[in-house]
Amino acid sequence: MQLKFLSYTYPGLEWILKQEILNKKWQIAEIWPGFLSYFWDESVLVKANLWLRTANKVYIVLDEFTTNSFDELFDRIYGIDWEFWIWNKFNFFVKPHIIKSNFSQVWIQKIVQKAIIKKLVGSWNYVSTTWTNLEIRIDVFKNNFKILLDSSGEPLYKRGYKVGNSQASIKETLAAGIILLCGCKQDVCYDPFCGSWTLLIEKALIDLNIAPGSFRNFVLEEFDWIDKNLVEKEKRRASTRRKNKSIKLYGYDIDEKMVNIARQNIENAGLEEYIFVQQWDFLNLKISDCMITNPPYGERIKSKNIEKIYGKLFEDLKNLKCGWIITGYKVDKKFLDNFKVRVLSNWGKRVKFLWK
Ligand SMILES: C[S@@+](CC[C@H](N)C(=O)[O-])C[C@H]1O[C@@H](n2cnc3c(N)ncnc32)[C@H](O)[C@@H]1O
Repeated sequence: MQLKFLSYTYPGLEWILKQEILNKKWQIAEIWPGFLSYFWDESVLVKANLWLRTANKVYIVLDEFTTNSFDELFDRIYGIDWEFWIWNKFNFFVKPHIIKSNFSQVWIQKIVQKAIIKKLVGSWNYVSTTWTNLEIRIDVFKNNFKILLDSSGEPLYKRGYKVGNSQASIKETLAAGIILLCGCKQDVCYDPFCGSWTLLIEKALIDLNIAPGSFRNFVLEEFDWIDKNLVEKEKRRASTRRKNKSIKLYGYDIDEKMVNIARQNIENAGLEEYIFVQQWDFLNLKISDCMITNPPYGERIKSKNIEKIYGKLFEDLKNLKCGWIITGYKVDKKFLDNFKVRVLSNWGKRVKFLWK
């Protein structure tokens, strides 16, 4: 069965996601700021969830149309084969995302819900047979609708290896995007502000070709129309693709609690042999080779020494082979000569990605 998929990513990282999709030889349908759609069959649905490092979710496109009438919206939704896609199994919820349209969120939610329930049970008495939540996302841009069925469940940045985060952690999908963006091929790399270790774990997963979704489950595993063994089969196949590489990644953090969380996260990801972690103050640390880091912004995590930290950071970078920084801190212009800058967003906050 040919399907059309759609995945969101961070504005600015679309071409990284595009490259991930092209590397898998799937066919790109559309590219827009913040999302991409692509074609293939249901086996790709599993692979996309398992392998895409920068996609926030994988949706199936059930319908696309243009309308400005509520009646037509109801008819189009009613026309979708809901008995096939969800039967009355899921505790589904409708999530509209509206841009530049006169349609209101509440009305779209009501109409879509009414049409699906009428199709499934012919009345208002919809009772799901499981507790599993299933998102039906309705994207509306002006009068253009996309009806999307979630196949991931929890967003894909939740990889499944983390026991804890730092107060100011970076999302795993963004961390992977940054690693792919900088194309860092160094086998030895430092993160002196490692927090929960997101950046270096994602680097190790990329370097060792480990599927980022191999630590978790997806809502698609409960779809009746998907072969139940497909996910296990793809996970097994993914594990055979793992590369043997002698990487050494060093992470430090001043906070003992973070160091303990990081150790647990590394263990959960099965990466102990490649990764070294220690409690250390950056101001007393000597770094060589390559650095990739997400230093404190001086907001959520207060640091008395914030100016000193950035002074040393840019001084150290001058002598390194390569270095990448992602930060929401307003870095003094005097440091930025000879650096390239790209603006991205982390948890909705503008951050700068800087490199030599
Ligand atoms: C923005 S967070 C890093 C988050 C990390 N990328 C993650 O995803 O969890 C900054 C980290 O720097 C640490 N930190 C603050 N001052 C430090 C210092 N002087 N030396 C080392 N680490 C420091 C904080 O404890 C915090 O975990």
